Amino acid sequence: MKELSIYIHIPFCVQKCFYCDFLSFGNRNDIFENYINALVNEIKFYKKDCKEYIVKTIFIGGGTPSCLENEHIKRVCEAVFENYNICKNAEITIESNPGTLDYEKLNSYYKLGINRLSMGLQSADDKMLKRIGRIHSFSDFKNNFILAREVGFSNINVDIMSSLPEQDMNNLIETLEKVTDFSPEHISAYSLIIEDGTKIKKMYDEGIYTPIDDDLDREMYYKTNEILKSKGYNRYEISNYAKDGFECKHNIVYWECREYLGFGLAAHSDFKGKRFNNILDIEKYISKNGINIRENIIDYSKKDRESEFMFMGLRMTKGVSDKAFKNRFKESIFDIYRDEIKELSLENLIEITGNDTIKLTDRGIDISNTVFLKFL
Ligand SMILES: C[S@@+](CC[C@H](N)C(=O)[O-])C[C@H]1O[C@@H](n2cnc3c(N)ncnc32)[C@H](O)[C@@H]1O
Ligand code: SF4
Repeated sequence: MKELSIYIHIPFCVQKCFYCDFLSFGNRNDIFENYINALVNEIKFYKKDCKEYIVKTIFIGGGTPSCLENEHIKRVCEAVFENYNICKNAEITIESNPGTLDYEKLNSYYKLGINRLSMGLQSADDKMLKRIGRIHSFSDFKNNFILAREVGFSNINVDIMSSLPEQDMNNLIETLEKVTDFSPEHISAYSLIIEDGTKIKKMYDEGIYTPIDDDLDREMYYKTNEILKSKGYNRYEISNYAKDGFECKHNIVYWECREYLGFGLAAHSDFKGKRFNNILDIEKYISKNGINIRENIIDYSKKDRESEFMFMGLRMTKGVSDKAFKNRFKESIFDIYRDEIKELSLENLIEITGNDTIKLTDRGIDISNTVFLKFL
C-alpha cells in the first residue's frame, strides 16, 4: 500500500493574534457546527480515492482546533478513522492554544487516539503575550501542560517565537529555560515574520515598535540552538528541535515532498501527482458541503518536483542526498544542478558531505531563502 498523510484545517481561533496571517477567524462560534458538517462530508466523500493508501500521519491544525467543542473533534476523527486505512502506530497531532484546553478536552483527545499534542506558547513572559495579542498567560500553559501529561500525552510540542516586539536576549533565554523545564519532546522556534495586513505590521508602521535588527535576530537563532542543544534537543530542520526519535513525522512528509491530502478550508494537497488547494471562502465551503471545493489543480512537471525536492529537503539538517534524489528522479543532483551547486559551495552557503549529501552551512541557514531561490 502507498503511504499518505492527512492534514485537516480548522480555521477558527478565540481571537486573532496581532502577528498572525494564517487563514483563521476569531469569534465565529456561530458557524462551528456548519463547518464541521461540511468537513466531515468532505472527508467521507473523498475516501473513494484513497483505497490503496495507508495513512501514516494525521495533523489537525489551524487556527486553533482546541477552540472547538469535544464533539466536533470526535466527529472529525471518527470520519477519518472509519473511512481510511490508518496505520496502527500513526502519528496523530492536534494543535492547541493554552487557554482553550481543560482536562475533559485533553482526555477526550487522548482517548480518541490523538497521540501528539502541539501547544502554542510563543513566550513565557506575560507582558509579551499581551503585547502580541495572545489570549493566555504562562501559568495557563503550565496548567495545561501538566494536565496533558496527566492524561497520558508523551509526545508534546511547544511553539515559541523570537524577535518579538521589544524583545531582548534575556527575555528569549528566560522563555527557553522555562519551556525546557517542562521537557517537551519537541520545540518549534520561529522568528517573527511581520506579515502584511496584520495588526502588528500596523504597529511597526506607526512606530509603536522598532523592528529587531538582523544581527540580533541571528544571535537569537544561534542562542536558541545552543540552549536547546545543551538540553538534549537536536535541530533537525531550520526551526524545529526534537529529542531523539521525536521529530515530527508529519512535517517531514512535507519536507521530503511525499504525498498528503488536505481537508478543510484552504487546505493544500499533493496527491496522485497533482497539487491543489481547497477554496478560501468559508461561506462557499459550507454551502458546497465540502464537495467540489478543489482549485488550482496543477500537474507538477518533473522540473518543478526536482526543484521543490531540493529547497524543501535543504530545510532539514540531514540535507538532500544524491541517492535519495536518484531514487526519486533517476538522475543525479550533480548533473541537474551542477552550476548552482558549484556557485553555492564557492559562496560557502552549502557543503557537500562524504556521502554525496548537500547541506546548508550556518551561513546558508542565515540566508536560506536566497539559497532556495537558486533551485527555483
Ligand atoms: C498556525 S499556529 C497554530 C497554533 C495555535 N493556534 C497557537 O497559536 O497557539 C502555528 C504557529 O505558527 C507560528 N506563527 C504564526 N504566525 C507567525 C509569524 N507571523 N511569524 C512567525 N511565526 C508565526 C506560531 O508560533 C504558532 O504557534
Ligand atoms: S497564532 Fe494561532 S491562535 Fe493566534 S491567530 Fe494564529 S492560528 Fe490563531
